[in-house]
Parts: sequence; C-alpha cells; structure tokens
Amino acid sequence: MPNLLLAGFMGTGKTTLGLQLAKRWRRKFLDTDEMVEKLAGASVADIFAQHGEAHFRNLERQVVESLLPESGAVIACGGGLVVPPGMASLVRSKGVVITLFASVETILRRTSGNTRRPLLRGEDPEGKIRELMKKREQAYLKAGIAVFTDGRSLQQLTLIVERVYEREVRALQKAKTK
Ligand code: S3P
Repeated sequence: MPNLLLAGFMGTGKTTLGLQLAKRWRRKFLDTDEMVEKLAGASVADIFAQHGEAHFRNLERQVVESLLPESGAVIACGGGLVVPPGMASLVRSKGVVITLFASVETILRRTSGNTRRPLLRGEDPEGKIRELMKKREQAYLKAGIAVFTDGRSLQQLTLIVERVYEREVRALQKAKTK
C-alpha cells in the first residue's frame, strides 16, 4: 500500500493522528524530524541553532529523497518540509499526501509552552504563526489534500483521513490500469 504522508503546520496534529493510523493499520510510523535528528546526530533545535534553517531544510530534503520507504508507512512530515520549491512535488511522489489545517488559536494552544520548536520561540508566537501560515498556505494546499481539524475528535479525524486515503489509493490504482 502507498505511504500516507501527513503534512501541515506545527501543532495541527500530524504526529498524534499518524501514530493512531499506524496503529490501526498495523503499519510503521515515521517522523521526518526524528529521521533528520538521526541523520545529523543532533536535535532539531541544535541544528537550527548551530547551522541555521537552510541546513535543516537540506537535511529534510535528503531524508525525503533517500531515506523514506517506498511504501507501507505512515509518515509525519516536519511543518516546513513541503514549503521550499520542489518539495511539495517530491513529497507527492512518495505516496498519498494529506495536509492538516488548524486555526491559529488551536495551533497556539497546542504549541504553547513547548520549547522544542525553534521557529515559535520568540516574543510573539501568535504573530509568528500568522506570518508563517500566510507564507506557507499555498504550499500546503499544493502539497496535499486539505483536512481541517478544528472541532473534530481524534476518532473522527482518523476515519476522515482513512476515507480520503482509501479514495486516493483507488484513484491511483485506476490510473495505473488505464
Ligand atoms: C518546523 C516544524 C517542526 C520542525 C522544525 C521546523 C516548521 O516540525 O520540523 O521545528 O518549519 O514548521 P513539527 O511540525 O513536527 O513541529
């Protein structure tokens, strides 16, 4: 079965939902942040601090190009992974991509007090979320099928994403046999 890749902003629930789906489907769960950390031998925060964002984005590209399995996995993508030019189509070549969206309020609530994310560490995380979301929105929409998460339980989202994934797999299979 094709990979399922979950894209979307920080705090939209990619990891929580990805883990849930991997358990339900008995598939491997992978997180590109963890893969980058393994590749670099350093935490995401340290990579940003010591080498900057551009270096982190290069590592993300390497992970997607060379380290993702061809099929059978559920993969949570780092929040900015699909944004640089060429990354959305590269990610789409690796499986079915679904982008999770959430309101700024939800993202703020889910990410506040969390020091793991270097991009939201400044004085005004809400302003930063708005600014980044505005810059990234088109890339997110281009990368995958949009699913809005606000007001939906994990159980509901699991079923919605499962349905979308299965529909996409059927469409891919149909396209292949044509
Ligand atoms: C980032 C999101 C993070 C991580 C890094 C940069 C971003 O991943 O890759 O801090 O640019 O949005 P999560 O979305 O898993 O927090």
